[in-house]
Amino acid sequence: MFATTRFLRSSKYRLFSSLSLKAVAKPKTALTDPFLLTEPTEPFMNPLETSTSVSASIKDHISKYQDARPFMLIAGKSLIINLFCYPQSKGCYLADADGNKYLDLHAQISSVALGYNHPAILNACKSDEMVIALANRPCLGLLPPTNWPEILEASHMRVAPKGLTNIFNTTCGSSANEIAFKTAFIGYKKFHGIPDTISEEELATCQDNIAPGSPELAVLSFRNGFHGRTMSTLSATRTKPIYKAGIPAFPWPAVDFPKLRYPLDRFEQENYDEENRCLDLVKAAIETNPIPIAAMIVEPILSEGGDLHASDRFFQELRRITKEHNVVMIVDEVQTGVGATGKFWAHEHWNLDSPPDIVTFSKKMQAAGLFYSDELRPLVPMRNFNTWMGDQPRSLIAKAILDEIEESNLIALVNSTGKYLISHLKPISIRYGRVVKNVRGKGTFIAFDCPNQEIRDLMVMLLKAEGVLINASGSNSVRFRPPLILTKTHINAFLPRFESILNKIYKQFWPQ
Ligand SMILES: Cc1ncc(COP(=O)(O)O)c(C=O)c1O
Repeated sequence: MFATTRFLRSSKYRLFSSLSLKAVAKPKTALTDPFLLTEPTEPFMNPLETSTSVSASIKDHISKYQDARPFMLIAGKSLIINLFCYPQSKGCYLADADGNKYLDLHAQISSVALGYNHPAILNACKSDEMVIALANRPCLGLLPPTNWPEILEASHMRVAPKGLTNIFNTTCGSSANEIAFKTAFIGYKKFHGIPDTISEEELATCQDNIAPGSPELAVLSFRNGFHGRTMSTLSATRTKPIYKAGIPAFPWPAVDFPKLRYPLDRFEQENYDEENRCLDLVKAAIETNPIPIAAMIVEPILSEGGDLHASDRFFQELRRITKEHNVVMIVDEVQTGVGATGKFWAHEHWNLDSPPDIVTFSKKMQAAGLFYSDELRPLVPMRNFNTWMGDQPRSLIAKAILDEIEESNLIALVNSTGKYLISHLKPISIRYGRVVKNVRGKGTFIAFDCPNQEIRDLMVMLLKAEGVLINASGSNSVRFRPPLILTKTHINAFLPRFESILNKIYKQFWPQ
């Protein structure tokens, strides 16, 4: 038996299997965490960088084989990152091939939980168990290894959302949602009190992709929602049309997600009415859509759509409506999950009476999949299936991340750092009200709007030139998606650079 397996079976492991994360320590700060003490103290832009940079030549090399156009640009030049050089890419700082060090508030599209080269993850990678898991990739759904139940319990099941006792492991967020849709379709008969059997006629007609074997069933989604780019998830994705154009789609409906006005306390009644308008649209879609709606999918915060929030009451009502109509409620926590909103799962903020039927995850868990209720476990085996069904090494990394979140009480840190950031952004949005609007967020999952796309894009570009990587989203929003280890020290490195570029934008657009 390998060392880590023995470790998993030790008394410490039994603590993990309590299916919840326990806060055991005061959150570390940049001054008390030995790891953060070794980070760069602030962004560094290499003054010696030349126009014939290392990044440019690596980009040219990659572009012989792959489309390099989406690569992140800084002043028109691709940013090629250097993850290997420990002292350089560390914690919340990302080094590039040309010796620059960026404060990374983008974190690989919100998917870095503990920053770069975190010792908890590096140590997990050095275990015997990891080496064997990397060297031998089993079909987890067919021939699972002996330690698979322990790994599941020490990683994903330990944070299973309340009421969801089943897990299906996938490889990315899109495939998690893809399987969630299939799970809802397979469960449709059961949810609607129809005998859960498959007739000879269904078996024959599904081969020709026609009803009743291939029934007409729909997933309801929200405008500005993003759920992935595979064939079915793309049909539920409603952000940029360029993702969808030219690709066949299911004829599934979408309804408006509330567009709240800020500050929330000033527009309480308008926002209440706006949410009711959208709830009426949901009800009408479920009751009148020509194709029966099997599932509704929603992000707790519409992230790619520009960080659109709604009240807890809105989501409670969505749950009530879906329950009333036997529609499977899928909460897409691919981006919001794993602590960034100040709770482990963002939907915990809602205090639902009855949990969602399915919760999908990926990104900061570093392993993807879905949690689902017993009711949705298919009657016949292998209806949802694939070769690998997840990836053992990624689940071991998830375990290391969850250990560190628990041991260093990172969710408390997210809450205090998030409050600190908001407490500075709000006065900035008064001082620079023409460009920083509608500051909003939970935990460090924070965003604001710019007056238009031109100023937003300029802001993101100027911040990069100052050594800060940040994300544009929606048509005119800027979003913070840092690792969970972000501290006030990082915010203190960000703020003067932010004010400096705001002054530049003011000078350019409103010179006096
Ligand atoms: C909310 C949400 N769902 C699904 C996805 C798709 O995940 P992936 O890119 O891993 O397929 C994303 C990706 O950004 C996302 O933000």
